[in-house]
Amino acid sequence: MEPFSLRTERFLLDQPVASDVDDIAVYCTDPVFESFMVTPWPYERKHAVFFVDEFAPGGWERGVEWTWAIREDAGSPLLGVVGIRLGTGMVGYWLGAPHRGRGVMPEALAAVVDAVFERTDRDDVRWECVAGNQASMRVAQKVGFELTGSGTGTIPARDGTPIDAWTGILTRPAPARA
Ligand SMILES: CC(C)(COP(=O)(O)OP(=O)(O)OC[C@H]1O[C@@H](n2cnc3c(N)ncnc32)[C@H](O)[C@@H]1OP(=O)(O)O)[C@@H](O)C(=O)NCCC(=O)NCCS
Repeated sequence: MEPFSLRTERFLLDQPVASDVDDIAVYCTDPVFESFMVTPWPYERKHAVFFVDEFAPGGWERGVEWTWAIREDAGSPLLGVVGIRLGTGMVGYWLGAPHRGRGVMPEALAAVVDAVFERTDRDDVRWECVAGNQASMRVAQKVGFELTGSGTGTIPARDGTPIDAWTGILTRPAPARA
């Protein structure tokens, strides 16, 4: 399908583009990504090129994963990335380190969840993080995910081994009564 953009009060969610590659390559070398993300490690510029040129557009084309760049406005720098795998309903997100601590991700993720419920027939959206990722858990809680506990995650580590994960679910809101 064709990618669509989302607007929140403060942000635009649109597609990652070639001019975002350098920022992505810097942000994804943040040491917290080694333990809390399954993005390639060590992260190199070619990984950012692949993400922009193939991964994000390919997910849209095949209708399997919707990925957005988060920015303040059209053409402004990328702050981070948010996305959802449609088959499992699993959300994923990261922010460049300089852009954390001002509520960017709860606002962006809430818009993604709304879009999923508006545009698909999914009844729930899922979240999981590596156990101990407090910041990710707080984002999920702020958006309304109910924490469902901890256990083996559905997304394995880079080497294929299981991850000890925290999990959550957000179910489709009941329709308002007339
Ligand atoms: C997860 C992430 C997107 C959150 O960014 P953010 O929205 O700017 O979140 P903030 O930094 O404002 O923090 C959100 C909440 O977590 C808390 N928090 C942040 N870092 C924390 C930490 N290390 N330990 C405990 N709490 C933490 C903040 O206090 C805040 O809670 P509050 O609003 O109740 O005070 C960001 O930390 C990130 O990109 N991390 C690396 C990638 C990652 O882990 N992605 C998630 C993979 S599942």
